[in-house]
Amino acid sequence: MAIATVPLTLALLLLALCLLPAQPAYIAYNTTPSIVPGKINVHLVPHSHDDVGWLKTVDQYYVGANNSIRGACVQNVLDSVISALLDDKNRKFIYVEVAFFQRWWRQQSDAMKIKVKELVDSGQLEFINGGMCMHDEATPHYIDLIDQTTLGHQFIKKEFGQIPRVGWQIDPFGHSAVQAYLLGAELGFDSLFFARIDYQDRAKRLKDKTLEVIWRGSKSLGSSSQIFTGIFPRHYDPPDGFVFEINDVSPPVQDDVLLFDYNVQERVDDFVAAALAQANVTRTNHIMWLMGTDFRYQYANSWFRQMDKFIHYVNQDGRVHALYSTPTIYTDAKYTANEEWPLKFDDFFPYADHPNAYWTGYFTSRPAFKGYVRAMSAYFLAARQLEFFKGRTSSGPNTDALADALAIAQHHDAVSGTQRQHVAADYALRISIGYLEAEKLVASSLSFLADSKVGMGEKKSTTNFQQCPLLNISHCPPSEAALQNGKRLVIVIYNPLGWQRNNVVRIPVSDENLIVQDSGGKIIDSQLLPVSNATLKLRSFYTKAYLGASPTESVKYWLVFSASVPSLGFSTYTVSAATQTGPHSFMSTVSSSRESPDATIEVGQGSLKLVYTADAGKLTQYVNTRNQVRANAEQSYSYYSGNDGTDKDPQASGAYVFRPNMTYPIKSDQKFI
Ligand SMILES: *[C@@H]1O[C@H](CO)[C@@H](O)[C@H](O)[C@H]1NC(C)=O
Ligand SMILES: *[C@@H]1O[C@H](CO)[C@@H](O)[C@H](O)[C@H]1NC(C)=O
Ligand SMILES: *[C@@H]1O[C@H](CO)[C@@H](O)[C@H](O)[C@H]1NC(C)=O
Ligand SMILES: *[C@@H]1O[C@H](CO)[C@@H](O)[C@H](O)[C@H]1NC(C)=O
Ligand SMILES: *[C@@H]1O[C@H](CO)[C@@H](O)[C@H](O)[C@H]1NC(C)=O
Repeated sequence: MAIATVPLTLALLLLALCLLPAQPAYIAYNTTPSIVPGKINVHLVPHSHDDVGWLKTVDQYYVGANNSIRGACVQNVLDSVISALLDDKNRKFIYVEVAFFQRWWRQQSDAMKIKVKELVDSGQLEFINGGMCMHDEATPHYIDLIDQTTLGHQFIKKEFGQIPRVGWQIDPFGHSAVQAYLLGAELGFDSLFFARIDYQDRAKRLKDKTLEVIWRGSKSLGSSSQIFTGIFPRHYDPPDGFVFEINDVSPPVQDDVLLFDYNVQERVDDFVAAALAQANVTRTNHIMWLMGTDFRYQYANSWFRQMDKFIHYVNQDGRVHALYSTPTIYTDAKYTANEEWPLKFDDFFPYADHPNAYWTGYFTSRPAFKGYVRAMSAYFLAARQLEFFKGRTSSGPNTDALADALAIAQHHDAVSGTQRQHVAADYALRISIGYLEAEKLVASSLSFLADSKVGMGEKKSTTNFQQCPLLNISHCPPSEAALQNGKRLVIVIYNPLGWQRNNVVRIPVSDENLIVQDSGGKIIDSQLLPVSNATLKLRSFYTKAYLGASPTESVKYWLVFSASVPSLGFSTYTVSAATQTGPHSFMSTVSSSRESPDATIEVGQGSLKLVYTADAGKLTQYVNTRNQVRANAEQSYSYYSGNDGTDKDPQASGAYVFRPNMTYPIKSDQKFI
């Protein structure tokens, strides 16, 4: 027996060697895109998620500087993706953040621009979302969201003649109904996609197959502005084992029989298993794989090489069907599938990614930066209206730098407050550069308007308007100057909103006995409030810190008056010294009531009053004299101690996650005001 076995084994071996195909080293992969009805279609969507600033500044990410923090270079992403797309017309890629794309585009030759335009025309390269950044949805003002999206879309329209069709908010930390209807449906998007929702909500949606929904974000607009919305079954990266940046550990498809570790069948089986698992939680037979994640495709071929092979071998296998795709193609497939989708109303806030980890910390992170963004956003609104009224000149100052700086400040790691300190400083610096230019424009535009209002007949004086951006530290040199010898201070107040406003104006002054006149010369009521010593101390400290100089004028009072400003217009008020006998601004008496510890201040109109303590400014009573209601109230300030993340539970409270170190029971009889 033993003797007979040997030749038989040899014979089998020889036979096996003969049966192995003499495989050429070169394989032409068939990746022709198609959708196969009746099969599970796996839409492979190559993407790179490029934060417009976070651990590094936007420019450091673009050029690949400060790589010790994070090896990320968006320039490499775009260079290598474009060349990989040019290599094979079946490949596709989506690009999302226009702030980066613009930087790259500026640096390309005309010849390259022509090639890239062809890639966009053919649909190989598609702009998705298309704002300057992927904005946060909780902390920005909606006007800033519209502006930053418009700026990006204008660039895409101008350079490529395209309008993005898909909202792609894959990373922001929870999602707002305003995104769904205003920045989704109303913007003209056909669909919206993202990853981060509450972990319990996701678990339920996975079970119920309700990750894909029709989101009706506005109650009043109802079905007229709803949008197809897809929540990813996992994060915005590929299924485990399909991540192919050069340092990633997923096994590549090894299909060269002359090399060791041939694994085509094994990898095809992995692919089919992952596809079936996802199809199991998805309606219709279309599923999407996010082929990429943060700052990937710095060497695009390492991804495309694997996807070429997967598409080729998986389709040969035939159990599921794979294709290069984009969210647009995926959306079209969903629309034609004739499926009923569940409805979703309201927000996806707050977002928790595991128990006791609510991402509500960022609602208040970096409050000073949040405040600066809001103040500059309001200023920008006024500045560009004034720019329009005066007309743009090619040489004069404009609002473009401020628009750009505010746009990237809406990024989900900018106004959210979740960026590193040097990155926060970078955003603020960009805004301040933009502000300084816009300030010049505002001054020249206001003097243009004010002078033209004087009338055609009169001789035009060129009024030089100064602005007071540091009113927050009671610093305003023009208003602090003494108003003696007939000197007058002219105050122009501009209203960028579409309705008339009555607002209280406060400016620091040094003189007593002032009068405020409206543009018709009528004297209006005004008050002088003493500036507290604490404020003066802060003012002196900050003036030194910001301007490197001590404040020169001796500010004593806030001059306060009520100004009425027409919509999209301005009002002019004149401040001057009162005559000995005439009316003048009266001194506020609030300070004298401070002497008694029980003194209170009443605020409110008509029969409704709120009563505050004069010393601490705390609310003590609500009074309605019409129906004799007098309700006591108690106001106090408290704080939570954050979890330090050093004991058994490593999740610390921080910029993203609000996490007290214990549960704080709220008693039902406790009043929160
Ligand atoms: C690199 O990042 C660090 C913060 O980690 C920062 O202090 C440093 O200034 C950065 N380098 C540059 C060139 O910005
Ligand atoms: C599909 O879902 C069912 C029910 O949740 C589960 O039992 C089954 O294992 C799933 N199949 C795959 C391939 O994940
Ligand atoms: C005052 O406003 C400026 C910007 O206009 C800001 O840089 C500064 O931090 C503010 N100062 C204080 C004390 O809030
Ligand atoms: C404020 O400071 C001035 C001079 O330093 C002092 O005379 C005055 O009493 C102070 N006022 C208060 C309310 O402390
Ligand atoms: C919570 O933090 C505070 C302040 O650090 C500390 O005093 C307190 O003991 C902590 N409580 C618990 C339950 O860890």
